[in-house]
Amino acid sequence: MSTRTLQHTIESAHASDGAGVKLRRSLGGTHGVRVDPFLLLDEFSSETPGDYIAGFPAHPHRGFETVTYLLDGHMLHEDHLGHRGDLKTGGVQWMTAGRGIVHSEMPQQENGRLRGFQLWINLPAREKMKAATYRDLQASEIPVVALPGGGTAKVIAGTVEVDGQATVGPIQGGSTDPVYLDISLPAGGRFSHPIGSEYAAFLYPFEGQLDVGSNGTARTLNTHSAGVLTPGDRIDVTAGKNGARFLVLAGRPLREPVVQYGPFVMNTREEIEQAIRDYQSGALTRT
Ligand code: CO
Repeated sequence: MSTRTLQHTIESAHASDGAGVKLRRSLGGTHGVRVDPFLLLDEFSSETPGDYIAGFPAHPHRGFETVTYLLDGHMLHEDHLGHRGDLKTGGVQWMTAGRGIVHSEMPQQENGRLRGFQLWINLPAREKMKAATYRDLQASEIPVVALPGGGTAKVIAGTVEVDGQATVGPIQGGSTDPVYLDISLPAGGRFSHPIGSEYAAFLYPFEGQLDVGSNGTARTLNTHSAGVLTPGDRIDVTAGKNGARFLVLAGRPLREPVVQYGPFVMNTREEIEQAIRDYQSGALTRT
């Protein structure tokens, strides 16, 4: 078994999206760095309503999946098909935009903390034009596993095995076979987890720091930075002196050309031009 170490770090940068929601963008930021099949990772966290209250009014997507994980707060998702998803603390919305969706994501609170993530996962060429689908997962549908030595693992996608007992997340399989874990560790706590060598993987600590790799060769990954991992077949991490909370994200790379124009992610320029025409004509959202 070879342990994955830090290959490179993508520091998040302050950004604003939607109608002025303040966020930290690591993947998909100004340098356009992606980790195939992952296109973008935004972290939003604020107790100041002015940072989030205007939300994300109606906007389109085509060609990929958006995964919204709310740590604190309440958001309402509505789309052109009449689908409504109430996203509450600890819940996840897994949206496969496919050929097209126009939706809004609006905070349902006037004060208090709004905190969470939006991750974009690419779809293979053969699935970019399939019909849109959703999974709306409440916190109670996402299993939480106690880790030996302290800490917990929330299993959104993929499987975590502790003492021979497998805990399976509600999202499984698909072309990119994603792993999405939210791990909480006490000071000095360790987490070791197998990830197939053919999968791309990165870590994102949002509280505390992590030492990534085996004892002796571990490197430190700072809060709010995406740590892209070298090839290998497992991860070994140790929380810093204040403990840590972090996302583990992994998936099977698509190895296809990526042409992105804002919320449209396709394989060619022509497909992007078609997506823009379809959005302007209304064809993007016609079923
Ligand atoms: Co959106």
